[in-house]
Amino acid sequence: MVITVLGASGRTGRHVVRLLGRWGHTVRAGLRNRRRGESVAGLAAIPVVTDLTADPDELVDAFAGSDVVINCAGAADPDPAAVNLIDRDGAIAAIRAAERAGVPRFVQLSAMFADSPDQGDRLVRSILYAKQISDSMLSRSSLVWTVVRAATLTDEPGTGRIAAAGHLDAGRIPREDVAAVILGCLIEARTENRGFDVRSGDLPVAAALSTLD
Ligand SMILES: NC(=O)c1ccc[n+]([C@@H]2O[C@H](COP(=O)([O-])OP(=O)(O)OC[C@H]3O[C@@H](n4cnc5c(N)ncnc54)[C@H](OP(=O)(O)O)[C@@H]3O)[C@@H](O)[C@H]2O)c1
Repeated sequence: MVITVLGASGRTGRHVVRLLGRWGHTVRAGLRNRRRGESVAGLAAIPVVTDLTADPDELVDAFAGSDVVINCAGAADPDPAAVNLIDRDGAIAAIRAAERAGVPRFVQLSAMFADSPDQGDRLVRSILYAKQISDSMLSRSSLVWTVVRAATLTDEPGTGRIAAAGHLDAGRIPREDVAAVILGCLIEARTENRGFDVRSGDLPVAAALSTLD
């Protein structure tokens, strides 16, 4: 498959790009600008510019011919204005562009509690609300969609063992394992047209995803 990864230079995005390449997919590594090309050097991926704040027509062009778009982008700055620009409006722009480009499948990396965002301090709330809005827009799109609501991300090595369910208690999960979950979504039909929580757990990724109801 041809798969475009948004936020490919990010800590989770790079794991996703690396795994997709290993699985033999044609990977387009979506970068904010050409200068970020070094961040995916050495990975089996074609760099493409996919700035979520740019002219949406550029996203449509970048997505053309993709079978899947995976959104791992997120604002670096927790300030609500930046979060609304990237995690809300940028993600919505990507969803709309994927529809216009005829991409059939869209997987969005979101955050645990984005579906009940009225909690945490001001900055946490603003991130959760931004993600709730874009997640909800994705669920009402014409795309075959998945929202992966990840627990607190860590840079520890992946264990390959997770828990996945409609709702879970708070926890942590290595970014490497989140990448494996995102790839698992491409082969497990139970992940289609739904959101779910994911954190570290006891089951191998494929087994955990197959328990989703
Ligand atoms: N931190 C947590 O505990 C947690 C928990 C659950 C979910 N999440 C979410 O998981 C996702 C990935 O997190 P992460 O920590 O792996 O991310 P990260 O390392 O901060 O990477 C974010 C990516 O988004 C890209 N980006 C920023 N602005 C962009 C724009 N205008 N257009 C296109 N791409 C842009 C960045 O590009 P540059 O490299 O060029 O800046 C980078 O590739 C985020 O959405 C985050 O909110 C985080």
